[in-house]
Amino acid sequence: MARKEIKLTDSIVTLRNLRRTDKYRMAEMANNKKVADNLRDAFPYPYTVADAQKFINTSIGQKPQQVFAIEYQGKYVGNIGLYKQDDIYSRSAELGYFIGEPYWNKGITTRAVKLICDYGFRELDIVRIYSGVFDFNHASQRVLEKCGFEREAVLRNAVIKNGQICDEIRYAKHITPQDYT
Ligand SMILES: CC(C)(COP(=O)(O)OP(=O)(O)OC[C@H]1O[C@@H](n2cnc3c(N)ncnc32)[C@H](O)[C@@H]1OP(=O)(O)O)[C@@H](O)C(=O)NCCC(=O)NCCS
Repeated sequence: MARKEIKLTDSIVTLRNLRRTDKYRMAEMANNKKVADNLRDAFPYPYTVADAQKFINTSIGQKPQQVFAIEYQGKYVGNIGLYKQDDIYSRSAELGYFIGEPYWNKGITTRAVKLICDYGFRELDIVRIYSGVFDFNHASQRVLEKCGFEREAVLRNAVIKNGQICDEIRYAKHITPQDYT
């Protein structure tokens, strides 16, 4: 069965389903140590076209759609994902994102986060979106603050990245369900 096309846009930034042809641009944007240093180790470095292909393949069968391409000026620039949790956390979703370095500090991720939060609260039957950010990642913390996330907790020594222990800062945004009915 053909998958449902989802397109979310504020006219500057568009979120859309990943396409198999995104693999080249994805590898180009993702293959950067400055990107990988801010993400979990499951995000490879170096990042190859084969890694991008594998990631796109897993995203294609998802229901509900959890990962989107971020498009700016008609080009793929990064990914954003909203991962719905299960069991007692089934009304929560974890947010993650990256964009390629040539596109940093243009407000693109802030727009993308606003778009995906609106989509998640409307369509995914969730009441809470959260993200864990390494303590040294001030740009990502700023993005979440600009999008109305609250700094909820500091998880002391929670992370080991590149052999260094650091804190994880937990951000969350929540709604009362009637806000979206
Ligand atoms: C973090 C990331 C997604 C930000 O994307 P972006 O599109 O550049 O973000 P925006 O332009 O919307 O906003 C960035 C904000 O951070 C600020 N900022 C950037 N670098 C900063 C720094 N070193 N210290 C403090 N603030 C910083 C910018 O000035 C801007 O805030 P402003 O609008 O108040 O001026 C991007 O840098 C990235 O992909 N990094 C690697 C992967 C990553 O960190 N993912 C998130 C993991 S939690």
